[in-house]
Amino acid sequence: MIRIAIDGPSGSGKSTLAKAVARELGIIYVDTGALYRTVGYFVYANGKDPHNAYEVEALLPNVQIELKYENGSQRVILNGEDLGDKIRMPEMSMYASAVSSIPAVRQFLLEMQKKMARENSVVMDGRDIGTVIIPDADLKIFLVASNETRAKRRTLELLEKGVETTYEDVLVDMTERDKQDKNRDIAPAVPADDAIIFDNSEMSVEESLVEIKRLLNERK
Ligand code: DC
Repeated sequence: MIRIAIDGPSGSGKSTLAKAVARELGIIYVDTGALYRTVGYFVYANGKDPHNAYEVEALLPNVQIELKYENGSQRVILNGEDLGDKIRMPEMSMYASAVSSIPAVRQFLLEMQKKMARENSVVMDGRDIGTVIIPDADLKIFLVASNETRAKRRTLELLEKGVETTYEDVLVDMTERDKQDKNRDIAPAVPADDAIIFDNSEMSVEESLVEIKRLLNERK
């Protein structure tokens, strides 16, 4: 069993790197942000306020989430419906970030994530993987990149998906979301004490992958 935690702010390149690591090692890549996005989507679809903990908590008994893995990619099934890219819309980022600061939501998604990491070799990315979900991970990376690099990457990602946006809008949204994620009371998006802070602003995915493999060997 091997378990790798990759945390960090939005647009730091977590999912790209985590996917590459998973492919290289032949293990599962778990995108935990998708779980918060799914709860956010459900709150949105029901016309509720994602900042209202009481309203959000009341919806949770109606949420059933299933994760499926095919050819290295993760699909999220909400109450039997494959959500596809619906959870990737910029609006859903803010909904996800808002609901993720509600303790009942984190509790609701906790066991599912812990179970995945208990039963499988995984690379998991998120905000609290090294601090809460896999405190005894083989390797903990806290991935960072400059604001400019992160906003550029996120803008390209969205444009490729056909979402109309601008660099400036992405930068504002990203900064707001990071502030919210970092400063919340529960499981804030901060590095674990034993995490390696990894700045990949000037690195290609291939270079980052080589470095991760080196760190992993060093830890073994
Ligand atoms: O990784 P992402 O951008 O898809 O995550 C969406 C939001 O979900 C993010 O703003 C904070 C929250 N999140 C979290 O609180 N804990 C995680 N492990 C993953 C995501």
